[in-house]
Amino acid sequence: MLRKLEEKLSGLKTAGLLRRKRIAQSPTQTRQSINNHDNSISTEKTLFCSNDYLSLASHPEVIAALKDGIDKWGGGSGASHLISGHMAPHEELENMISQLFSGLISDNRCITFSTGYMANLAVITALAQGDCEIFSDELNHASLIDGIRLCKKTVKIFKHANYDHLAMMLNESTAELRLIVTDGVFSMDGDKADLDTLYELSEKYNAWVIVDDAHGYGVLGSNGLGSLEVTNQTSERVVLIGTLGKSAGLSGAFVVAHQTIVNFIFQTARAYIYTTAALPAISFALLKSLDLIHGDLGRDRRAQLKLLKNHLEHGLLGLKNKYPKFELLIVESSSPIQAVVVGEAERATRLSSRLEELGFRVPGIRPPTVPKGTSRIRLTLSANHTINDVDLLLEALGSCFREEV
Ligand SMILES: Cc1ncc(COP(=O)(O)O)c(C=O)c1O
Repeated sequence: MLRKLEEKLSGLKTAGLLRRKRIAQSPTQTRQSINNHDNSISTEKTLFCSNDYLSLASHPEVIAALKDGIDKWGGGSGASHLISGHMAPHEELENMISQLFSGLISDNRCITFSTGYMANLAVITALAQGDCEIFSDELNHASLIDGIRLCKKTVKIFKHANYDHLAMMLNESTAELRLIVTDGVFSMDGDKADLDTLYELSEKYNAWVIVDDAHGYGVLGSNGLGSLEVTNQTSERVVLIGTLGKSAGLSGAFVVAHQTIVNFIFQTARAYIYTTAALPAISFALLKSLDLIHGDLGRDRRAQLKLLKNHLEHGLLGLKNKYPKFELLIVESSSPIQAVVVGEAERATRLSSRLEELGFRVPGIRPPTVPKGTSRIRLTLSANHTINDVDLLLEALGSCFREEV
């Protein structure tokens, strides 16, 4: 086995696909100290890669609430939710989230998880019952794909956001239960699913829509409720998953859907039942974080993000025109995620390394995370970035292209 694994590892190295972890020496903020590849000196970089979109991970009120939560509730929950691990802050958080979405999903209930990965496994494995077919966007997040693999049902993969393709598949389906699975905002491209169309298809073909809004929650909609808030209609046929480690600045996830659906997940999902409940202090601090997201501060930070995004997009399009030989693809985005597709994995890696030398942390994203030939650098914005930060990044990118990196 060791020999085979070594061979595979060296294959990854040759293909430029070896992954490396980097050790951060300071908290998540727009500037962060991160060790060099050889773990030597830690230097401060401007971070354009975290999902801390609203910069709440470093918000003093969130940090104070976390400390307060530890004082009140101690360390770990000590057990799974259905043994003795479900504590008052977990319950309060679920009630708060259920209330927040009451106008978008009627008769709803909320259930929380310690990570989005677990939530996705739980939802799909619990709901894919009996004679069921799953219809999955080809660019869905890995955790949705793993949930689909785990439930061992027939899966039909439709071309990215191609709802004619999806409709054709739904039309041919004879299954009793049809689950459409999609990211709300796609994590590697930053574009969003067209939920209005998906709702219509779900009505027409008697299907359900499972939406993973990890990157939409907190960011989209004037109240920060995410992808469901920016649709023109509501649906009884939607199951929403949101994560709390991105815009909310802490960790965890929630599922909101009709109460019968959530009751069923609660009763049967192995990824809920057989895992220790998250630290109650996190749920306690999330109450504060969600207050901020859905209040004035959240509104201001969403406005700042929009400003930054427009500035970045404009600058990137300028670079694309200035350096046509690089055939950059600036993916059209409706979120603080901006992908710049550069093609081959080595190129994305080279660009990312050079940007790092220039003081910016911008990861190269390569297969298998994205399809072959679409390697990219992926820029993410946080509300605490300034226009000047974006200008400096654009300048650095320009100098990379001048040097023909
Ligand atoms: C679209 C999407 N869904 C789910 C997850 C998993 O969430 P978590 O990090 O909370 O496990 C992520 C990333 O982390 C994601 O990008």
